Amino acid sequence: MITAEENNLLTRTDPKTPCGELLRRYWQPVALSEELPPEGAPLRVRILGEDLALFRDDRGRPGLLALHCSHRGTDLSYGRVEDGGLRCLYHCWLYDVSGCILEQPGEPGGGAGLREMRHPAYPCREAGGVVFTYMGPGEPPLLPNYEFLTVPAEQRSVTKILYRCNYLQGNEGNIDPVHLSFLHQYLAEGRPPLQRVVPGSGDTDNTLLRRDIAPAIEVELTDYGLRIYTSRDSGDGARYLRVTNFVMPNLAAFGGSTVGEGYSVHWHVPIDDHSHWKYVFMFSRKRPLSKELIDKARAELSERYELARTRSNRYLQDRATMATQTFTGMGFNFQAHDAFATESQGPIQDRTEEHLVSSDKAIVAARKLLLAGMADVGEGRDPLHVIRNPQVNDLLHLQVFSEVVPSSVDSKRHVRDRVAEIKRAYGKS
Ligand code: FES
Ligand SMILES: [Fe+2]
Repeated sequence: MITAEENNLLTRTDPKTPCGELLRRYWQPVALSEELPPEGAPLRVRILGEDLALFRDDRGRPGLLALHCSHRGTDLSYGRVEDGGLRCLYHCWLYDVSGCILEQPGEPGGGAGLREMRHPAYPCREAGGVVFTYMGPGEPPLLPNYEFLTVPAEQRSVTKILYRCNYLQGNEGNIDPVHLSFLHQYLAEGRPPLQRVVPGSGDTDNTLLRRDIAPAIEVELTDYGLRIYTSRDSGDGARYLRVTNFVMPNLAAFGGSTVGEGYSVHWHVPIDDHSHWKYVFMFSRKRPLSKELIDKARAELSERYELARTRSNRYLQDRATMATQTFTGMGFNFQAHDAFATESQGPIQDRTEEHLVSSDKAIVAARKLLLAGMADVGEGRDPLHVIRNPQVNDLLHLQVFSEVVPSSVDSKRHVRDRVAEIKRAYGKS
């Protein structure tokens, strides 16, 4: 349980709020590249409580501008993309991607005050199939060289999903290893397809998660956030070790369908305090992703990136299937289970009413990191995982593992060895 004041601090992300200021110190996804094709229409977007117009100029560069025209406030997302910028439909002012006003054609002489004025604009970068923006002050930090952004395009996929709840609920679900033994359990072994057999054992993740439902959890502080070690007894002197991560300030890396040769990431970007986009990344460092895998990541998702199962249709829960198919009766798509679990906590979970237990230790640790990050920003320091030095912009030590190991194995040493193997494969030490 935390105080109402702490809950407000952790969940409010509008401009000028401490958490909003923290999130603005990092590059954040603002759209999928596929939403902004060359010569496509501008998009009206809302992120961190701000309404903006995102467009791709006629040179292919993404630009993110305050939604309302600096002249008299018309919505720029309806504008014309031409002549090196975005043109307002009302009186034809033309803006470039950096917010410079290039033309005021209705003014005698083309506009005298043109040069002095600057329209609010945020810098954008594109990587890994996503348009990122930096909404903070000063010089933007480096976009982290995450593996999921830098592997060849055919080895990664990304989509996004609308969640109608505060971003923190989504993020706290990622770093809660215990719910995997319950919420996402499939009762009929062998379904759905693509279930893997865990290395070091003859069992699926589903079976091992069910075999020991009360794991030992250990949390380790890293330079990007938290590494979370979850150990379950898998029988015969072995244990099922899962290593996942909280990455400052609003993402997490976990196993997913490519674990063993990659991992998945959920990046929770506030639309406002009551809704967020979950950007879902998946990659393999070894091979192109199959169509089957990519389609699975988009299961039950509409063209507007909304799940078919929502609170308004009670997540299409079918209680008849709760005895034979899934624990939830909500189908096999784990994203829908997560939507149910987190959205039903309320638009902003009232954490003054919760009762944390020992297995919530990663959640407690992540909240502390976020609060420490807010304090850093308040005192003028860069918070954890803001990277400015290209020499240290290497995230190969951010890794996910899910395997059965002998009980005697030291988890931290095991992870160090496995990370060293991955670095060697990239020709790095
Ligand atoms: S309101 Fe946009 S140009 Fe006048
Ligand atoms: Fe989940």
